[in-house]
Amino acid sequence: MERREFLTLAAATAAAPLAWAQERRARALRAAPAKQALVGAGHPDTAVWAYDGSVPGPVLRYRQGERLRIEVGNALDADTTVHFHGIRLPNAMDGVPHLTQKPIARNGGKFLYEFDLPDAGTYWYHPHLGSPEQVGRGLYGALVVEERVPPAVDRDLVWVLSDWRLDREAKVVANFGNPRDASHAGRIGNTVTLNGAVRETLEVRAGERIRLRLINASNARIYGLKFEGHAPQVVALDGQPLAPHRPANDRVVLGPAERADLILDCAGAQGSTHRVIDDFYAGREYRLLELRYSNEPAVVRAASPVPRLAPNRIPDPDLAAAERHRVVFGGGMMGAMPDQREHKGLFWTVNGKPVHDGEHRHAPMLELRRNRSCLLELVNDTNWHHPIHLHGHVFRVLSRNGKPNPLQEWRDTVLLEPESRAEIAFVADNPGDWMFHCHVLEHQVTGMMAVVRVG
Ligand code: C2O
Ligand code: CU
Repeated sequence: MERREFLTLAAATAAAPLAWAQERRARALRAAPAKQALVGAGHPDTAVWAYDGSVPGPVLRYRQGERLRIEVGNALDADTTVHFHGIRLPNAMDGVPHLTQKPIARNGGKFLYEFDLPDAGTYWYHPHLGSPEQVGRGLYGALVVEERVPPAVDRDLVWVLSDWRLDREAKVVANFGNPRDASHAGRIGNTVTLNGAVRETLEVRAGERIRLRLINASNARIYGLKFEGHAPQVVALDGQPLAPHRPANDRVVLGPAERADLILDCAGAQGSTHRVIDDFYAGREYRLLELRYSNEPAVVRAASPVPRLAPNRIPDPDLAAAERHRVVFGGGMMGAMPDQREHKGLFWTVNGKPVHDGEHRHAPMLELRRNRSCLLELVNDTNWHHPIHLHGHVFRVLSRNGKPNPLQEWRDTVLLEPESRAEIAFVADNPGDWMFHCHVLEHQVTGMMAVVRVG
């Protein structure tokens, strides 16, 4: 054998097992049109856009510290990307078109997402291009990163909450991004689904302990869930553990993109039923579903306190040394909307500027030195709710409306009430250009969006 040939062969054999192993570990995820029975009995199926054929997409499950490797294939007739919401990942894997990657081309494009999962918790994935329509038609799914030592529970359930604007034939009303929605509360639908269907019941067994991972995948709807006859405890918010506690008024409030992990102890009697209601919007309360207890004898388990999850290792900001910035969110109906002659179709501002969707190459709103602690005062100068999300980092919520926040929880999305303020702090330790935007998707694409650069 020629020496050259031998070397080539040797190199090929040496590389093969590694390449093969990596091939095997990449999971495919395909975005494509699909049909789904959202409303159920007596209603036609709805044409949706889905990952792997159903809404929500598959629950992607990993163990903390593992590497995610997913090749996204795009069979839609629209370009797309995937953003893994809440994960502290390298900038190139963040899924933001133009800013971090080229869009995945319609009708056959592919992109390999690959990164480590540093934090355990409940996360989710969704497109970051044409978001009002792509998310509104059903592209989203849960990403669960299990703790190295998960808490003892009888069942671990994921509830992806979403809402749809459907007509009488259960067809999606395609008025995405219309100015009325965009300048008010966003696209709020008329049909709420739990894991992709209108549900009647969840069967439970007396005495069981359930971990419930709630994910708000709606474009704009905020949920306020009450579990009648039960007192669930919140053990994590946006995937980040905190001291187990009952939420105020035993009501779990979730803004768009937010998550909550609950421990639900099924303390009801065999054969009993209890409503789970959503009464976030005054006067528009409805029943999400009913907890229906089976007649089986109660699960016997030693009484034990609600488990406290091990915290993720997130660097604590040094508040004394932190650089401080004020970020004002403005605009909207009944507010200081940008001049429509100059900024047609842009209704919202960040520090006075409306930023157009797709204009991700504009100058960053903030440039932070790497590893600096940073304290942001977020001011909602509008009459609307805004869930504000920062990519690539998680932050501590220090205060709300000038009062210290008793929970001091870590989050990646903070829901600002109308005319309110919050202070957040984090260590800017992840280099890159990161989106900072409202997660009411109709607000995001009509001005309420900015870029934070970490150098
Ligand atoms: Cu859930 Cu900028 O995204
Ligand atoms: Cu908003």
